[in-house]
Amino acid sequence: METRKQIENAAKALKDARYAIAFTGAGISVESGVPPFRGSENSIWSKYDPECLDLDYFYAHPAQSWEVIKEIFYNFMFKTEIHPNTAHIALAKMESMGIIKSVVTQNIDFLHQEAGSKHVYEFHGTAGRVICTNKRCGNVMKPQDIDLNSMPPKCPKCGSLLKPDFVFFGEGIPHDVYEKSMSDAEKADVVVVVGTTGEVMPAGMIPIIAKRHGATIIEINPTKSALTTQYTDIHIAAKAGEAFAMLAEEIGIEL
Ligand code: APR
Ligand code: ZN
Repeated sequence: METRKQIENAAKALKDARYAIAFTGAGISVESGVPPFRGSENSIWSKYDPECLDLDYFYAHPAQSWEVIKEIFYNFMFKTEIHPNTAHIALAKMESMGIIKSVVTQNIDFLHQEAGSKHVYEFHGTAGRVICTNKRCGNVMKPQDIDLNSMPPKCPKCGSLLKPDFVFFGEGIPHDVYEKSMSDAEKADVVVVVGTTGEVMPAGMIPIIAKRHGATIIEINPTKSALTTQYTDIHIAAKAGEAFAMLAEEIGIEL
């Protein structure tokens, strides 16, 4: 079905929704200049070994892991100004109008919050905080305030290893975020899935659980994902920014 028809169907589903939520991945931030993890030649995992974000590897080789983390996340994020794009802005506007109730995001770039979204569940944590690994210390810092010249960075309070507060492979999802995200997935009657391969679990279960509870799945992604064939009801095969510009116009939202 051509995009126009999909946009009309998606807009109607959102307007009629009792409890619509969004589930987003790296693709929603691509138009903000943030490279995706997979699926393109500039993707992060085509340049770096994901092992650097494996929890066991991090504790066994903290200096090596931190070198790559610094390059992927902190140098890039500090060097380049990244801003919310039309998709983030439209979702925040839809929340203020009561159309979208929450955003469950796999992203750690804080762009949903910067766009004005209030109910954002950071399923994979955030690049905006660094924590002390000594639970008795509990020190929490901003990445800008740590000394990234001495590797691996140590806690200025107790000398223990510091860790970015995003979820590593093999690490559990923050309990509170997990509970709220799964509860919203069960409550939702519409889920807008934006820019995710749907391959990483348990995050990828969000749209599947919603579908099992009867939700309509709208997917915005230029290509098919692991969800499209089996779970997606309305696939808008377009970039997030473009799709949300058309959706906003169809619903009658001023961006
Ligand atoms: N608009 C919408 N979707 C896009 C765009 C765009 N402009 N550009 C790319 N995409 C799609 C790609 O087709 C792909 O399906 O976004 C998806 C990006 O996939 P990934 O990079 O794998 O991102 P994601 O699914 O969020 O990764 C999940 O993997 O490495 C971990 O923790 C990391 O949260 C991340 C998780
Ligand atoms: Zn400490």
